[in-house]
Amino acid sequence: MKSLVIGGAGFIGSHLVDRLVSRGPVTLFDNMSVGKREFVAEHLSSGAARLVVGELLDLDQVCEVVKGHDVVFHLAANPEARWGLENPRLDLEQGTIATWNVLEAMRRGGVKSLVFSSSGTMYGDTAEVCAEGDLGALPISLYGASKFACEALISAYVECFGLRGLIYRFGNVVGPRGTHGAALDFLKKLKQTPDELEVLGDGAQAKPYVFVTDCVGGMLHGLDHTTGPLDVFNIAPPDFTSVRRIAELCIAASPNPQARIRYAGGTRGWPGDVPQSRIDPSKLAALGWRVSKTSDEAVQTAVSALAVEVFGAR
Ligand SMILES: NC(=O)c1ccc[n+]([C@@H]2O[C@H](COP(=O)([O-])OP(=O)(O)OC[C@H]3O[C@@H](n4cnc5c(N)ncnc54)[C@H](O)[C@@H]3O)[C@@H](O)[C@H]2O)c1
Repeated sequence: MKSLVIGGAGFIGSHLVDRLVSRGPVTLFDNMSVGKREFVAEHLSSGAARLVVGELLDLDQVCEVVKGHDVVFHLAANPEARWGLENPRLDLEQGTIATWNVLEAMRRGGVKSLVFSSSGTMYGDTAEVCAEGDLGALPISLYGASKFACEALISAYVECFGLRGLIYRFGNVVGPRGTHGAALDFLKKLKQTPDELEVLGDGAQAKPYVFVTDCVGGMLHGLDHTTGPLDVFNIAPPDFTSVRRIAELCIAASPNPQARIRYAGGTRGWPGDVPQSRIDPSKLAALGWRVSKTSDEAVQTAVSALAVEVFGAR
């Protein structure tokens, strides 16, 4: 299998590349805005993977790089839902237009199979446990709105141009090489102000956290066990972890385990944040795949690994 991983030098992308190299040649396409060469250095130096540094918003570059691949994994996007508040065009460009470029390049290049990284933010502001067919509540962030648009574009390209689309809606993904998210934010803040941790919201926000190797394992399991023109799967544990718990684990892993937590207040971290998210993993479970770590275990393991990355080994 000749794989192209767009965003392959990023957090989830680099873990996916760790698994894909045993299946055949892998090309990574990344503008290195967030991705790091060190995440994939081992595969580049062994010759198992090659890195093309390029920009998704440049359609000609995307057309060139997709040629000759069997599967395109599209994992590049603005990674932070909050950043859309500062720049309301960001998710339109880095999410929706970038994904249209991928689809159009695949159509022009005759590449059929796309695996896309969507998000549980698709399900909007609801504390209900959401399965793949539940779209009663529309997204409330520009990031979620863009994922919604991307999924619709993929569905249309599947129907109109004969592509195969596999869409995954991830919970919050955590683990080593994390590039963003609550745990990394907290650890970085604790490095700057070791005595006090400011937490956005009231700490009661609670979401399902999936360990990154589980996320990648679920993606590959779905790829190996589906044949439909368009499939949509959630990838998340059935349980969830509160922001308060993540803050406590980060403090315990920091050089000052006596640090205080100061809550900024309010039920949401920021406008567009979904305070309570529950995602139903049973559709992928019916294909024989389950996460190996609960949400709390995923967070705990990730915090330990990220603490070493932020503070160094102790
Ligand atoms: N991490 C999570 O909790 C989470 C949850 C749900 C969905 N997702 C989705 O999974 C995907 C991967 O997320 P991640 O956490 O690995 O993020 P990441 O930022 O670590 O990885 C994205 C990679 O894409 C690259 N990139 C970004 N814009 C680009 C562009 N215009 N052209 C070329 N390369 C570009 C970045 O340099 C980076 O290496 C994203 O689509 C994200 O929306 C992530």
